[in-house]
Amino acid sequence: MLPKISPLEFVRAIVRIVTAKPHVPSTVQGNPLLKTILGRRSIRHFSEREIPDDVFTAILEAGRLAPSTVNLQTWAFAVFTAQSWQQFFGRPIPFNGQRAVIVLGDAHWNKAIADMFSDSPLVTYTVAVINASLAAMTMNLAAESLGVSSVMLSETGRTGFLDAGYLKQKLALPDGVFPLMTIVFGYAKGPYPPMPPKLPLDQICFTGQYRGVSPAIAEDWLKQMIAGYKAAYPLSSFERQLHIYRAKIGQAEQDLSRMVFRRDRRLD
Ligand SMILES: Cc1cc2nc3c(=O)[nH]c(=O)nc-3n(C[C@H](O)[C@H](O)[C@H](O)COP(=O)(O)O)c2cc1C
Repeated sequence: MLPKISPLEFVRAIVRIVTAKPHVPSTVQGNPLLKTILGRRSIRHFSEREIPDDVFTAILEAGRLAPSTVNLQTWAFAVFTAQSWQQFFGRPIPFNGQRAVIVLGDAHWNKAIADMFSDSPLVTYTVAVINASLAAMTMNLAAESLGVSSVMLSETGRTGFLDAGYLKQKLALPDGVFPLMTIVFGYAKGPYPPMPPKLPLDQICFTGQYRGVSPAIAEDWLKQMIAGYKAAYPLSSFERQLHIYRAKIGQAEQDLSRMVFRRDRRLD
């Protein structure tokens, strides 16, 4: 059960969200890459404007050249235009996106390495997830630098990470290939939304033994999330959204267990 927030807490939280800014030391404020990184937002409204092929190719190239463990490049990208997505999945790309990439962890293509680690499925899976996620973030930032906005999705109705089993069948994924996230790309329709609540730097950094986020800051974050969600989606709520995820997570857990460990998860 999530906490209830009073009207005053709601107003305070919204004011904090809309006024929050990245903290950038004045000496580095002019750095254009930093500006791109710190100005990025997940965008959920895209215009009809198409992404030119050369721009999209540059975005994919950024993914191709991403860093990876031992340069293993444990990834594959399922790449779609709005038309090919509609044809393949029978529905539009979410949020009117103009291109989409389903990012997959791929421990399958490199058989010589995969065979060496066949008795370490969790490590193999984790390495694939780490590397492919870095490629995803690299594509996301390359897009941003080219004026193309994006959002990473784990839940899209049918085509995200939470539907790993469906995607395995639909994309004919062999063992060792795992759907991770769907990145939707497009030109933003309207201004960027405010930054959702981010934890302060002094709560997430530590030297020596783990310290963790203080309970007061954790509660403050949760209240801002509840308020921010209500402001953005008045007919829904953060709690309701979590319940929607929860309903699908059980199936995803089963699907992934089968894919990672090649056996059903024991539920006892
Ligand atoms: C792996 C991953 C999965 C995500 N899945 C979803 C999703 O299913 N639906 C959605 O609306 N946003 C999704 N997001 C976007 C997050 O909600 C967003 O990154 C977060 O709220 C922070 O906002 P920001 O990206 O603007 O900083 C996802 C982000 C990541 C990195």
